Amino acid sequence: MLLNLVLLFILYKILDYVIRIPFISNVDRKKIMVTGCDSGFGRLFAIRMANKGVTVFASCMTDDGKKQLEQSSTNIKAFIMDITDVDSVQKAYEFVTGHLASNEGLWGILNNAGFLQQMLGPLEWQSADEFKKVLDVNVVGHHNVTKTFLPLVKRSCGRLAFTSSAAAHFPEPLMNLYVASKHALDGYVSCIRPDLKAFGISSHLIEPGVKRTPMVCQAYEKVDSYEVPDDVTKEYPKEFLEKHAAYVRDVVDGYATPNCDDVLYAFEHALFGLYPRARYSLMLQVKAFMLLPEYALDYIYNHRNSKPQPHLIY
Ligand SMILES: *[C@@H]1O[C@H](CO)[C@@H](O)[C@H](O)[C@H]1NC(C)=O
Repeated sequence: MLLNLVLLFILYKILDYVIRIPFISNVDRKKIMVTGCDSGFGRLFAIRMANKGVTVFASCMTDDGKKQLEQSSTNIKAFIMDITDVDSVQKAYEFVTGHLASNEGLWGILNNAGFLQQMLGPLEWQSADEFKKVLDVNVVGHHNVTKTFLPLVKRSCGRLAFTSSAAAHFPEPLMNLYVASKHALDGYVSCIRPDLKAFGISSHLIEPGVKRTPMVCQAYEKVDSYEVPDDVTKEYPKEFLEKHAAYVRDVVDGYATPNCDDVLYAFEHALFGLYPRARYSLMLQVKAFMLLPEYALDYIYNHRNSKPQPHLIY
């Protein structure tokens, strides 16, 4: 009985794997938009798809990023868009529609722009402004962009993909604001998926693990120059900061690889696979870790972090 179940499960996994292999054809007639293309995943994916003949509308924040992309392929139409600025999003919409025929749509959007909090550390280091910025980029900005461009995706019964993170399911204390934002994005996409099905639009979440992208590398470089807010410097003294920096370096050195192939493949599969998945979890250790009971999780967290020194009297 048990053996049968196991065999059935294995069979299911193999079928599920095989059925997902094919991709749609004629991608050279497809047009997609990718946000966050200055560097990292967005840039790599824009170039990868442009090389396969897809027309890629690539949104950047900087002129430099835009110019570099324009030079890399004639299939890339790069433009400046700040996804947290409604005027900028509206202008971008006009740019994209200006390059489409009058009733033409977009096959897909990869909502990829992302922002990592500047200080990786405890809640007392985090300002409300910083939290707002993280949520604006990682959640509300994607909502605004999706709403604005949705009519174009409706026209082609296309696809929406979102760059989430393994952090969406992994409460890494260093990244509180970021984790909260990716958790929110996960909830958002899980809810719009059934809604948009009625329009023939599918929605997909991609959850990359830690990669050596510029976003992560910049955070890594800043970790030695944190300025802890004045009111809590006693609790987070110099030794804390040193240990903390060492810990962040260990995490990045231990887990972050520069190879983004799995992420790019997942993006491509979400937008161009014949049978795309709703969710691409690319760091399975995280899921296994979260199966542990909470006291085990707390124990692990408490024994790997540098600890603050609580001062009862100020
Ligand atoms: C989203 O759109 C609303 C309404 O248009 C606007 O008020 C808000 O500033 C936008 N927020 C972000 C983060 O894009």
